[in-house]
Amino acid sequence: MKIIELFAGIGACSKALETLEIDLEIIDAVEIDKFAIASFNAMHNTNFGTQDIKTYNKKFNNIDLISHGSPCQDFSIAGKQAGGDIGSGTRSSLMYETIRVVGEIRPKYVLWENVKNLLSKKHRHNFDSYIEMMDKLDYNSYYQVLNAKDYNVPQNRERVYTVSIRKDIDNNTFKFPDKEELKIRLKDILEEAVEEKYYLKERGLKYINKRLGNYTQLIKSDTEVAHCPITALGNANWTGNMVLDDTNKCIKVGELDIKGQDNIKRVYATEGISPTLTNMQEGNRQPKILVKNATKQGYVEAFEGDSINLAYPNSRTRRGRVGKQVSQTLTTNSNIGVVTPGIKIRKLTPKECWRLMGFSDKDFYKAKSVGISDTQLYKQSRK
Ligand SMILES: C[S@@+](CC[C@H](N)C(=O)[O-])C[C@H]1O[C@@H](n2cnc3c(N)ncnc32)[C@H](O)[C@@H]1O
Repeated sequence: MKIIELFAGIGACSKALETLEIDLEIIDAVEIDKFAIASFNAMHNTNFGTQDIKTYNKKFNNIDLISHGSPCQDFSIAGKQAGGDIGSGTRSSLMYETIRVVGEIRPKYVLWENVKNLLSKKHRHNFDSYIEMMDKLDYNSYYQVLNAKDYNVPQNRERVYTVSIRKDIDNNTFKFPDKEELKIRLKDILEEAVEEKYYLKERGLKYINKRLGNYTQLIKSDTEVAHCPITALGNANWTGNMVLDDTNKCIKVGELDIKGQDNIKRVYATEGISPTLTNMQEGNRQPKILVKNATKQGYVEAFEGDSINLAYPNSRTRRGRVGKQVSQTLTTNSNIGVVTPGIKIRKLTPKECWRLMGFSDKDFYKAKSVGISDTQLYKQSRK
């Protein structure tokens, strides 16, 4: 299959086709970010330079597939929603450059991936006009929202996929793949030994404490000490080591973070703590964390191997903040924490993020070997 990847990033589309053992020839990759294309080249044994889609006008014949995950920031609920109207100059409006390139190259198939919010009332007109323009170029388009976790990848990542097929070869039998059972869980992709730097320290815990609010407690067995955030009295932010005694009252030992009173070293707090959690629920899968959420109880429970979305401070209206053995969608803001054995919270490592996007460790090390930094590796896994 001859493929051109537009907005190529690190080449997730080529990677997916390679995983499916499709014989692939990558004819070109159009990507403006020098670090992304460096990773792309390292993984796919290619040697492409950076290219800007706006000035891209190469001519090729007999291309099978053009894929494009055009920039989604302006459609995404995580962004300011500036939209992608044609001529608006937003990054998301670059999807119309694809139409131009498709018109010039006329591949058999075009695959477009974007955020689900593109189908919302606010942005739908852009989606519809893409389909219309493809129709005018003589392509039939089929689309569906697919979630990675329905295809045996432990990440809750919903995207709208649009497959356009040139009318002269379309026999109207195209069908999106059936869902698969999720056999790989988040805990299966976690690294065994993780450097201490990925674990949240006092400042990070304070931050979580502030963001997740009163329902956040880390609880282990009776006597074990855990380093954890706990919000207790009034507006005070409590951080420090915590034990749970047998009457399930929280004893906090450590610094108390109240202005003017930070000389207090030891505090016993019995107020302001969420109801007791027992150790033996859910097949003894302790430890667990309560995360504020728009459920009847006001919280959801997170167990070892679950992920927690640390974004959206103070929201009681958000649902889906705990990923049950799956990761939530990776975003550029490093907001996903995992609950690890030993009651610590840590960030996913860059390698784990790559695994969650379907890349192998070999791919990861190839990118790392050309000098791609942790920051870039994170960014590249979340596009
Ligand atoms: C949503 S990401 C696509 C990621 C890709 N699917 C992957 O596998 O990594 C969009 C990509 O478009 C690139 N991009 C943005 N503006 C561009 C432009 N003017 N020309 C080419 N690429 C551009 C970004 O650097 C980013 O890597």
